[in-house]
Amino acid sequence: MKLKNKVAVVTGASSGIGKAIAKQLASEGCNVALASRSTDKLEELAKEIDTKTLVVKMDVSQTASVNKAFEEILDKMGRIDILVNSAGVMPLSYLKNRHLDEWLQTIEVNVKGCLRCIYEVLPAMKAQKEGHIINIASVDGKELFEGGAVYGASKAAVIALSQAMRMELSPEFNIRVTAIEPGTVDTDLREDITDEELLEDKDYGGDEPKLEAKHIANAVLYAVEQPNEVNVNEILIKPTGKS
Ligand SMILES: NC(=O)c1ccc[n+]([C@@H]2O[C@H](COP(=O)([O-])OP(=O)(O)OC[C@H]3O[C@@H](n4cnc5c(N)ncnc54)[C@H](OP(=O)(O)O)[C@@H]3O)[C@@H](O)[C@H]2O)c1
Repeated sequence: MKLKNKVAVVTGASSGIGKAIAKQLASEGCNVALASRSTDKLEELAKEIDTKTLVVKMDVSQTASVNKAFEEILDKMGRIDILVNSAGVMPLSYLKNRHLDEWLQTIEVNVKGCLRCIYEVLPAMKAQKEGHIINIASVDGKELFEGGAVYGASKAAVIALSQAMRMELSPEFNIRVTAIEPGTVDTDLREDITDEELLEDKDYGGDEPKLEAKHIANAVLYAVEQPNEVNVNEILIKPTGKS
């Protein structure tokens, strides 16, 4: 129980990777603020958790929503030790098919959503002179593929942001920053895809090896459980069988 009484905020906690991370952190003693748009799912998750939980409605694409949610978290939980930015969308599409709204939403949620949450936790973490921000990026930010241009760009931005955050926030404020870069994980994320041509070309339900969300939660736990003087900068994690 190394994390006993630490307070973690997990965005995207209603599903997949964020949900597994919230459960994992709670099982190690963290009190967790569960954030996403689907509060019904968050309430269900809260019932599975033994430590103190707070369900907060948060749309990371809306500055006012994020601001209100963090005000409530600080009011009710008192502090924030760990922020996990897991909220994300992945409406993969070929550029030639011009899914502009999806491109913009990908940047809005995956990049700007992260920024909004980082903005909100900085005053508390700076004052505490301690904190850990975990950004769930993706291997797709490093290994690009056709159909993954905008999603890959959004995750490349998160990886670059994480690196720069370490440079600025770690020496002065003792804030640790970790980018987690998963390969394919078995979650609902691919349901965001509407590009019929891409769906015909790629077999997402097929036999390709996939990680489970709990494997990513294990990686997060490894990073947060290190002694304060150790910053795990990046973890790139793929299923065995994938090069
Ligand atoms: N699955 C993979 O293969 C994989 C690989 C690498 C990286 N990732 C990254 O892992 C993260 C989690 O994805 P996942 O695989 O767990 O997918 P998922 O099961 O579809 O979960 C996505 C989560 O993001 C939340 N979300 C989406 N839009 C949001 C918004 N506007 N405001 C707040 N929350 C929002 C959803 O909650 P609500 O709908 O309740 O708001 C949901 O909890 C994402 O950043 C994804 O890019 C996934």
